[in-house]
Formats: sequence, C-alpha cells, structure tokens
Amino acid sequence: MRTQVGIIGAGPAGLLLSRLLSLQGIDSVVLENRSRDYVEARIRAGILEQHTVDTLTAAGVGDRLRREGLEHSGIHLQYPGTRHTLDFPELCGRTVWVYGQTEVTKDLIAAQLAGGPPLLFEVSDVVPEDVDGDSPRIRFTDADGTPQVLECDVIAGTDGFHGPSRAVVAAGSAGAQVWERTYPYAWLGILADAAPATDELIYAWHPDGFALYSMRSPTVSRLYLQVDPAERIEDWSDDRIWEGLATRFALDGWEISTGPITEKSILPMRSFVSAPMRRGRLFLAGDAAHIVPPTGAKGLNLAVADVTLLATALTRLLKEKETDLVDTYSDTALRRVWRCTHFSWWMTSMLHTSGDDFDAQLQLSQLRRVCSSETAARELAENYTGLPIEG
Ligand code: FAD
Ligand code: DHB
Repeated sequence: MRTQVGIIGAGPAGLLLSRLLSLQGIDSVVLENRSRDYVEARIRAGILEQHTVDTLTAAGVGDRLRREGLEHSGIHLQYPGTRHTLDFPELCGRTVWVYGQTEVTKDLIAAQLAGGPPLLFEVSDVVPEDVDGDSPRIRFTDADGTPQVLECDVIAGTDGFHGPSRAVVAAGSAGAQVWERTYPYAWLGILADAAPATDELIYAWHPDGFALYSMRSPTVSRLYLQVDPAERIEDWSDDRIWEGLATRFALDGWEISTGPITEKSILPMRSFVSAPMRRGRLFLAGDAAHIVPPTGAKGLNLAVADVTLLATALTRLLKEKETDLVDTYSDTALRRVWRCTHFSWWMTSMLHTSGDDFDAQLQLSQLRRVCSSETAARELAENYTGLPIEG
C-alpha cells in the first residue's frame, strides 16, 4: 500500500487532518486500532471554539453541527451567593458551541466513508518506521490479521495520549523534553436524560469542591463534580451524585433538574506537554503531544488547531516542495499549546478546592475580580472562546 500521508489514529485530530488534506487533493490513509462502534461511542469533550466550528464548516462537515449544535454566548461563574454571567460577544465578539466530540467524530467518519480516503478500523501492531528519511512507512496488522506495510511521504501521529508515535519522536530528537503536572483531584462526570436547568454552562466554586453544569442537547445534561482521584465510581450512587450537585450549585430561587443517569465515570486530571512535535517526517498532533485538564474545554479545540496548522504545512511540502511551514510547525503549534496549557491550569487552579483556606481566599478573590473587572473578564473570554490560529 502507498499513500502520501499515513495517519495513525481516528480521533478528531486524525479524521479532520485526513479531511483537510483531501480537500487539497492530497491522499491519506487513516489507521485506527479500535472499532468504529467504539470510536463513535466514546463520551468526551463538548464545547467547540469559534475557530473549530469555522474549520469544520469550511471542511464540509458543519451541517449537522449548525442544525443540532447549541450556540452559547457566555458562561455563568458561581461562588456561594453569586452567579455571574460573562457575555462573550460583548467581551470579545465571539461565541462557542455545545456539540459533543462524539457527534464531531460521527460526522467526520460518515464523510470519510462516503467516498473519502481509506479509513481502516481494528488494525493492530502499528509501528512508524524510517521517519528520518524521505520514505517513511507504517507497519501494521489489518483487521483480518494480515501484516501490511503502508509506504508514505509523511506520517501523522494523531494516536492520542497512549499511542505509539510520541515515543518514536522523543527517541530520535536531541533535546526532547516532557513537562507534566498531575492534579490532586479528578472529575466525576455524568450524562443524564434531564433538560438542562440553565441557559449557559455554570462553573461553580464551592467549599465541597468544583462543579460544572454542561449539556449536550435540550434534553440531555452533562454534569461534573470534583472528587478525589482515589474515589471509586461504585461508591457514588445516583442519589449521592445529585445531592452533591444540588449542594454545589445551590442558589436562592433556582433548582437543579434531575433525570435518569445514562453514563458515569471518573476522569483523572493532568497537564502534559511533549516537545518537539516533529521528528523528520513524523508529525504529532492533538493528545499524542499534549494533554490539558478539562476545565476550560481546550483539549479537542487544541487538537483541531494543531491539524489546521499541520494540514497547511503538509500541503505546502507535498504540493510545492517547500519545507518552511513543516520546519516551523512544532514551534508554532507549541506556542498555542502553552497558551492553552496556561489557561486550563489557571481555570483549574481558580475553581478546584484543596482544603487549604489560604488558597480558598485567593480563589474567591480571583473570582470576584473576574466578575467585577471587564479587563479580567475579557482575558477569560478571549481564551475560552479561542485565540486566533497563528500561521
Ligand atoms: P484521541 O481522541 O485520543 O484520538 C486518538 C485515536 O488514536 C483514538 O481513536 C485511538 O483509539 C487511536 N489510537 C491509539 N493508539 C493507537 C494505535 N496504536 N494504533 C492506531 N490507533 C491508535 N476535553 C475537553 O475539552 N473537555 C472534556 O470534557 C474532555 N473530556 C475528556 C474525557 C476523557 C475520558 C478523555 C480521555 C479526554 C477528554 N477530553 C476532554 C480531551 C479531548 O477529548 C481530547 O483532547 C481529544 O480527544 C483529542 O483528540 P485526538 O484526536 O488528539 O486524540
Ligand atoms: C464540558 C467539558 C469541559 O471541560 C468544559 O470546560 C465545559 C464543558 C463538557 O463536556 O460539556
């Protein structure tokens, strides 16, 4: 088998990269080790920045998003006694959209299977090889158990945090470096068949811990509670979860709406950045190179920003034989990665309680500042709705 760009991983990064390249007349093959059903059922992120919506629309996969997605013009920031609304269009002229990563993935897979580049599910033993030369290849075993070789001009490692690509980049790059922070809390997330009892998402600080009220549709709520990472999901009955949420979101004259919980899980929280994002003809994008804690909803949007840059750089390399944009890809992408890493760390630090009262007073002071100063609010709004993509 031969293609121009071999793409490892069919998450949002890999699927969108393949789509953007095919719109430029560049062929690719996407290799995914899970099944289509598994990939389409994973419940993950839910908030799309303006640039993500624009990119998906320009790529021809924005129709259902525009029909079924919910455009949001702000968030509520809450601490005891106060629920304050930040109006994003007023602060920075942009909005965000509620549309689940699951739906983005389904739309991209549907477009790919309707005449797009090959997308192979349930492959195994994926190994990128000879990435320092001009003719790299990917060895893998196909779904029927047959060993295969995919010859490529370039390989994209969009295989998430646990994929094989990052280690190959790190092993051959002088000065390769990793930065990591593990946070002493986790999120317990639920999906519930309950109409959201709020117009905008609520980010709530509470002495018991952070809570986030999000949604997926007018009839489905997505809610999160800060918990200890050692907690076991079996110890959280539906009643205990609803009680925790009701306490943390409590506000005079307002009530949470409950309903059957259809999914619940506990997510660890970490920041992780690996540099560089390139070795020779192997390029990393998305979670393969970096992870942010979920507060602020940057993970998926950052993956989209990476592949937007990468698609442009690879188009220039493969069509015009110019190396300038691939040579600057890693540094340009990492500048945005660090901005989002800082914003996600800052939101996480402002909203999650540690039991230390000095920290709590600093957090409340910061929250009061964001809720009373237009300058402080604008800084949050610009980062939350997404800064422009460089390059
Ligand atoms: P992924 O979506 O991880 O895709 C990588 C793909 O590569 C996967 O399909 C994987 O199966 C495949 N793969 C892995 N190894 C191999 C291999 N050896 N061979 C072939 N294929 C391989 N972000 C937010 O902003 N808000 C949230 O609420 C949020 N919740 C999250 C919850 C969970 C449980 C997780 C894990 C992440 C969450 N994120 C959230 C982060 C966000 O979902 C990710 O940033 C986003 O999925 C990144 O996309 P990606 O394509 O880079 O990686
Ligand atoms: C969601 C996740 C986030 O991390 C966030 O900041 C906002 C919303 C969500 O899953 O809906």
